[in-house]
Amino acid sequence: MAAGPSGDRPAGEATAARAAKATTAARATTAAAAPRPGLARHPTLAIGVDVGGSGIKAAAVDLGTGELASPRHRIRTPEPSSPAMVLPVIRHLVDLVRTDVGRDDLPIGVCFPSVILDGRTMTAANVDADWVEYPALTALSNAVGGPVGLINDADAAGLAEMRYGVGRGEKGVVLLLTLGTGVGSGLFVDGQLVPNTELGHMEIRGKDAEKRSASVQRVVRGITWPEWAAFLDEHLRAIDRILWPDLIILGGGVSKNAHRFMDMLKVRPRLVPAHLRGDAGIVGAALWGAKTAKVRIPPVRIPPARVPEAGPASAPEEPPA
Ligand code: BGC
Repeated sequence: MAAGPSGDRPAGEATAARAAKATTAARATTAAAAPRPGLARHPTLAIGVDVGGSGIKAAAVDLGTGELASPRHRIRTPEPSSPAMVLPVIRHLVDLVRTDVGRDDLPIGVCFPSVILDGRTMTAANVDADWVEYPALTALSNAVGGPVGLINDADAAGLAEMRYGVGRGEKGVVLLLTLGTGVGSGLFVDGQLVPNTELGHMEIRGKDAEKRSASVQRVVRGITWPEWAAFLDEHLRAIDRILWPDLIILGGGVSKNAHRFMDMLKVRPRLVPAHLRGDAGIVGAALWGAKTAKVRIPPVRIPPARVPEAGPASAPEEPPA
């Protein structure tokens, strides 16, 4: 395994790394169903890491299909979710995936719930304030011992859906919203990403819109699916008044329960649930990592218009990223 050059880690991080490794390794959960990959079947792999307000997830991704090519590992986001606590967890997850695939040379992409400008995390709505204007790209590269691509989490999910999921081949103005701890937005115009749109923070009735429409709010407020769907519909209508998108893709872990709320949404644009569901961030981060590393990205090997299966009536909701 490629060990990170310890000398170039930010001060105090090595200690934090050991502490975080000890406390978080015990809580790591690994998706059992994913088969161990046959590497021969996965000629172009990259590692994607999805940092969220409640969980940090990582896996290897087959860039030909957008499918996970390793088990998916998840560790609860440490508290506080400061760089000193989160960076060692990312390193630990990357090492787990490197071990799974038996390679330490794969491109790595990390997606993060923040505006990303020039390698810095500029905002921190659902993570510790120490991330504001933090040189995250440099710190991440030091933590994992190599180059990394860094991108906003909803932009990453959007890239994944536009390449491998329901956005594939969609022209015009396409908006992907991730509904989780917050609401993220990935905006595409004729397939091109317009980064850092942050539509979760539009003000509606005197509040950040995501404080009502994020899927976690249904649980936090103890409200019903129709009550939460009304909040989401209000947010979607406010977005429509400004952007008039051709298509809105609803993603995040809640998209596996799309059958519980999609019919209640009355907003004008075409609405579809995301295909890649809670994995879109990992997939998009891996894709971004590969683009950043300038490796050859294979042509997509999936049918252009995959139709998402209807979830079972009682699909358990995945914890928000
Ligand atoms: C953050 C966004 C992020 C979204 C989803 C928002 O609170 O500001 O950057 O994309 O949550 O995680």
